[in-house]
Amino acid sequence: MQEIWTEKYRPKVLKDVIGQETIINRLSSLLDKKDLPHCMFTGNAGTGKTTTALAIAQEIFGNQWKGNFLELNASDERGIDTIREKVKDFARTVPIGASFKMIYLDEADSLTKDAQHALRRIMESHSNVCRFILSCNYSSKIIPPIQSRCAIFRFAPLKEENIMQYLRKISESEKLKIDDETLKLIFEVCEGDMRKAVNILQIASAGVVPEEKKKCADLKCATADIIDKHTIYSLASRDPEHTIEMIAVALKGKFQEARKLLAHLLENLSGEDVIKEIHNQAMNLDLANDKKIRLIEKIGECEFRITEGSNPKIQIESLLAQIGIL
Ligand SMILES: Nc1ncnc2c1ncn2[C@@H]1O[C@H](COP(=O)(O)OP(=O)(O)O)[C@@H](O)[C@H]1O
Ligand SMILES: [Mg+2]
Repeated sequence: MQEIWTEKYRPKVLKDVIGQETIINRLSSLLDKKDLPHCMFTGNAGTGKTTTALAIAQEIFGNQWKGNFLELNASDERGIDTIREKVKDFARTVPIGASFKMIYLDEADSLTKDAQHALRRIMESHSNVCRFILSCNYSSKIIPPIQSRCAIFRFAPLKEENIMQYLRKISESEKLKIDDETLKLIFEVCEGDMRKAVNILQIASAGVVPEEKKKCADLKCATADIIDKHTIYSLASRDPEHTIEMIAVALKGKFQEARKLLAHLLENLSGEDVIKEIHNQAMNLDLANDKKIRLIEKIGECEFRITEGSNPKIQIESLLAQIGIL
């Protein structure tokens, strides 16, 4: 079975983590002093939080890192009591070849406020042997007493050159022939999320037609250069072409036709995907400024209702109706 590329190519050392120079420099100088405060890594998915934590563990503990490193996921573990038990068990044995052990708690922002207060106490009562790295998407969801006990590191979405560089390296080592235009498209749909970019590259390059593969066999390469735009868009749950068409039709006041296009989009995409794409396209529309502002406002409201759980079809239809009379 083929290995998952996000694991196969995950950097093992801090200096190989790309695009987060300030963070890596700060961490490296902390590690030079052989110490680490409790840390908080915040930022979007796929920007290197887990990778950085694993690299720190390997740098501090060397070959012994597995015995000194515990990874927990706050949203998997059944409540703070399970976390407390696991931390207690882990802290019971002494660290090997170091003065402390490390606990990486992923998705810490999924804990309730009460659970976070309990976590703060756990961090305190074990701080002589354990350093915590908490990871979360939004630091604002973490209670201030935890924030003030941590060094905070903000992971930014990865830039075009970072993602292109990384995808090129993978393509080379997988002997994939893939052009820059395709890589650029993957960057555009991945929204700074490296995990998403790598997964799209792997799935898209596996999905080439066997006949083309045969043709290419003597070149010893897969035929990723034939990955087309549509494959990438569909892997990223996007359909800009039909979305643009739907908005254009709605702007002309042809509501019934726009509804049909929406029904078609919703066959393959979720309501969230569709409203996000409408938002992506809205800024490029050839519309007077005041109309554009009203449109963005309505998109915001529609998105809010959908994420709060109301029926996406009804909400987007209502948006399309309003677009006709902006
Ligand atoms: N800054 C980065 N440098 C190199 N690879 C990265 C970076 N960010 C993410 N990746 C890659 O994307 C995948 C997910 O990264 P991970 O660190 O688990 O993200 P998260 O921030 O969600 O914890 C891994 O395969 C990793 O190699
Ligand atoms: Mg992670």
